[in-house]
Amino acid sequence: MQKQKPFITVLTLITVLFSVVDPKIPTTLEGPFKPVTVPFDVSLRGHAVDLPDTDPRVQRRVKGYEPEQISVSLSSSYDSVWISWITGEYQIGFNITPLNPETVSSVVRYGTIEHVLSHEAKGCSLVYNQLYPFEGLQNYTSGIIHHVRLTGLKPSTVYYYRCGDPSLQAMSGIFHFKTMPISGPQSYPKRIAIVGDLGLTYNTTATIDHVISNKPDLMLLIGDVTYANLYLTNGTGADCYSCTFSDTPIHETYQPRWDYWGRFMQDLVSKVPIMVVEGNHEIELQAENQSFVAYSSRFAFPSKESGSSSTMYYSFNAGGIHFIMLGAYIGYNKTVYNYTLDPCGPVHITVGDGGNREKMAIPHADEPGECPEPLSTPDSHMPGFCARNFTSGPAAGKFCWDWQPEYSALRESSFGHGILEVKNETWALWTWHKNQDPYKEIGDQIYIVRTPESCPVHPKVTKLWSATR
Ligand SMILES: *[C@@H]1O[C@H](CO)[C@@H](O)[C@H](O)[C@H]1NC(C)=O
Ligand SMILES: *[C@@H]1O[C@H](CO)[C@@H](O)[C@H](O)[C@H]1NC(C)=O
Ligand SMILES: *[C@@H]1O[C@H](CO)[C@@H](O)[C@H](O)[C@H]1NC(C)=O
Ligand SMILES: *[C@@H]1O[C@H](CO)[C@@H](O)[C@H](O)[C@H]1NC(C)=O
Ligand SMILES: *[C@@H]1O[C@H](CO)[C@@H](O)[C@H](O)[C@H]1NC(C)=O
Ligand SMILES: *[C@@H]1O[C@H](CO)[C@@H](O)[C@H](O)[C@H]1NC(C)=O
Ligand SMILES: *[C@@H]1O[C@H](CO)[C@@H](O)[C@H](O)[C@H]1NC(C)=O
Ligand SMILES: *[C@@H]1O[C@H](CO)[C@@H](O)[C@H](O)[C@H]1NC(C)=O
Repeated sequence: MQKQKPFITVLTLITVLFSVVDPKIPTTLEGPFKPVTVPFDVSLRGHAVDLPDTDPRVQRRVKGYEPEQISVSLSSSYDSVWISWITGEYQIGFNITPLNPETVSSVVRYGTIEHVLSHEAKGCSLVYNQLYPFEGLQNYTSGIIHHVRLTGLKPSTVYYYRCGDPSLQAMSGIFHFKTMPISGPQSYPKRIAIVGDLGLTYNTTATIDHVISNKPDLMLLIGDVTYANLYLTNGTGADCYSCTFSDTPIHETYQPRWDYWGRFMQDLVSKVPIMVVEGNHEIELQAENQSFVAYSSRFAFPSKESGSSSTMYYSFNAGGIHFIMLGAYIGYNKTVYNYTLDPCGPVHITVGDGGNREKMAIPHADEPGECPEPLSTPDSHMPGFCARNFTSGPAAGKFCWDWQPEYSALRESSFGHGILEVKNETWALWTWHKNQDPYKEIGDQIYIVRTPESCPVHPKVTKLWSATR
């Protein structure tokens, strides 16, 4: 909860035609729909409890400089991926000394046959620090973080890999991933899981179990990752930082939560590529006014490959889909981000909660008494964000609508994940899966259909995914 801090990830589909489909699933062609708000099922109202540091799923299981927290991310097209992992132990406390990243090399051996990993790629390594120049606060320095880019890969192909430092006899076991299909209008990954606000609670583990049961080819995490910023540096946490720790000299974090998260997620993301973009929980302000350091250090991003100068926004292709991951914590005017949005009309889907320990967002700003004070909404970390009243329409002159707008078809608060299936150039299926439902059961579902008559010129269907907080 707390402040509404929207961020937007833009996703563009290359498209053209349309035809008929299963009549049971609604399509955007039938809209606009009568706006619906599904009331929250109060029986689900229980605390989302973080996994403790004693949970075996978050504990270090490797020895010496063996790799842990292994993950795969995509580069900008199918022929390249990033493999990331961590070696060595983090330190937290007083007078810590960072590890020297040059002491462990970054090597990936890979190939299409499990026991013949004939290719080798080398990459780079780094450590990052989270420093607090305040009496009593503990500093953190990470293990050695490795990022290696594999290139020259074939599309839709399973690759096996091991990572680590062969000279230290510290190589991982064998993992595998599948490359994306070739970029083009006839090829798409089958299922793309989309999660937000994940955290690391028992509810998060339920979300991830549900994601795994849907066998995604790719996963997008559209902001708010570990919620390490709900903790003090001494490891004491709370569901609401500002309510519980109102007088800390800086918004503290407990960085080992990132390591816990990396360990828990390895089973999934060492196989299924994950693409992350930042949310407010990644700000993590520290000494010298640095922010987003853990986020920017721990994940690999195809920023350079896609022409971005920042880890905060980038783009990539997954088959015929061009994803634009546009985080909100970076100034993007036409100089920074000069993308012509399609006139056909975007479909916005707000992807909420993957199970984090903050209170789930249930009220809406257009409900009685829920409109925030305009001055309370700007975020000092969000350049160019300026809260304004509506200038036209039924809410002109006011900060909030008084009813659910007709452009908002459905809203429902639940922990869960989305699955996007692009079927062809004009049809994409969006499905929301709720944690409280049996595995694979469908929450709500809609076909997003491109309408060629309103978008006649080589157009692109543009969708804006947005997640709050
Ligand atoms: C696109 O996919 C939809 C949904 O599967 C299907 O109904 C439609 O016929 C397909 N259109 C084309 C042109 O293949
Ligand atoms: C979160 O998990 C708890 C059990 O750990 C459960 O009682 C609660 O209903 C879950 N919350 C939601 C919204 O699914
Ligand atoms: C943490 O690092 C900051 C910045 O270097 C320093 O001022 C502070 O004294 C350090 N704190 C501890 C407990 O070592
Ligand atoms: C952490 O610090 C807070 C605030 O100073 C204190 O209330 C809490 O007991 C400390 N926790 C531990 C584990 O030391
Ligand atoms: C700290 O960084 C933020 C965002 O990067 C910037 O807006 C602000 O001016 C900086 N503050 C100081 C004191 O440098
Ligand atoms: C756009 O953003 C860039 C980078 O922040 C800045 O240098 C430039 O002045 C901005 N331009 C306008 C018109 O706001
Ligand atoms: C943005 O792109 C459009 C169309 O390509 C171009 O006309 C315009 O000059 C560009 N604006 C900037 C600020 O680069
Ligand atoms: C914006 O709307 C609020 C009420 O929603 C009102 O109090 C305020 O005066 C408005 N501000 C402007 C500049 O019109």
